Amino acid sequence: MSVNTFGRLFRFTTWGESHGPAIGAVVDGCPPGLAIDESTLQPFLDARRPGQSKFTTQRQEPDQVRILSGVFEGQDGVRRTTGTPISLMIENVDQRSKDYSDVAKAYRPGHADYAYDAKYGFRDYRGGGRSSARETASRVAAGGVARLVIPEVQILAYVSEIGGDAINMAQFDAAEIGNNPFFCPDAEAAKRWEKIVDDARLAGSSVGAVVECIATGVPAGWGAPLYGKLDADLAAAMMGINAVKGVEIGDGFAAARLTGEQNADPMHPGVGGPEFSANHAGGIAGGISTGQPVVVRVAFKPTSSILTPQPTINREGEATELLTKGRHDPCVGIRGVPVVEAMMALVLADHKLLHRGQCG
Ligand SMILES: Cc1cc2nc3c(=O)[nH]c(=O)nc-3n(C[C@H](O)[C@H](O)[C@H](O)COP(=O)(O)O)c2cc1C
Repeated sequence: MSVNTFGRLFRFTTWGESHGPAIGAVVDGCPPGLAIDESTLQPFLDARRPGQSKFTTQRQEPDQVRILSGVFEGQDGVRRTTGTPISLMIENVDQRSKDYSDVAKAYRPGHADYAYDAKYGFRDYRGGGRSSARETASRVAAGGVARLVIPEVQILAYVSEIGGDAINMAQFDAAEIGNNPFFCPDAEAAKRWEKIVDDARLAGSSVGAVVECIATGVPAGWGAPLYGKLDADLAAAMMGINAVKGVEIGDGFAAARLTGEQNADPMHPGVGGPEFSANHAGGIAGGISTGQPVVVRVAFKPTSSILTPQPTINREGEATELLTKGRHDPCVGIRGVPVVEAMMALVLADHKLLHRGQCG
């Protein structure tokens, strides 16, 4: 069985392959009456779009999103969600399937080629087919709809580490994130990363990255214990992004090295609710948001399609070597930033509706 649908009340299903005619998403469960048109969603797709710098894949996809259903123009002339399924479509226009003739015969180590063949016995090898991160454009479009459901929440993601080189938090400047091709909040780190990513690219190699995402404005109370905890759903959502190998909430693994006093988030009476003097928990306790910023950290592995030959096997199980031609991201975590933001929005929208459903 395959599962291409995510969410409980706010659900989306994605469809399409990397080198098919189009990809897209169907969003179901969206509340009616929310003002929306293509221009609402396009900025998020533009942020993820390939080919915008030499540090990402050179595939040139305009990623223009079209809304095919679920939206209607009211008497005031504003297009709004109708409460019916919202179908979103993005055409693929820049496929080069011949680059994948070697991948048709042999498996890229680290990619999903072997696993897809082992499961289905048949696969669309062109650009990785359904396993390609081209699919993440559909999530980003669906995430744009989710954001309309949670206007009280602000979501900010950025790259905090590339190739083992981390930003200096003392230099953090949110305004810098849009000023460099790495979504990096530290201008000095961004300069260093130019060399790190370019060296990897020129050497036919790749590097990994860490993306941090912070959602502020999430009220206390979202999350559905015990088997729909907010942190568990966020972890599943982030792990479901291509190339993600680790997710931390708040201090994550570092919390295991703290004492109880160090890890506590002390509470004090405040105006309009409690105030906390730390946020080791990443804004979630007992699977429920506390009103503090929700903090998630996501580890992206280095791109597995590289120009350096790797030992592998072919479809007949014989030993061979493969170097992957084609246009690939030398560091997939960079374009992972808008995808992480989208998954955060999708999970929070679902939990807002779930909370409203039970608690009013
Ligand atoms: C935004 C983004 C872009 C990606 N681009 C590539 C790429 O150009 N080449 C590649 O081999 N993998 C790329 N990946 C990763 C693969 O899709 C992923 O490694 C593959 O589907 C196997 O899945 P897994 O790594 O999650 O196990 C990208 C991932 C993301 C999030």
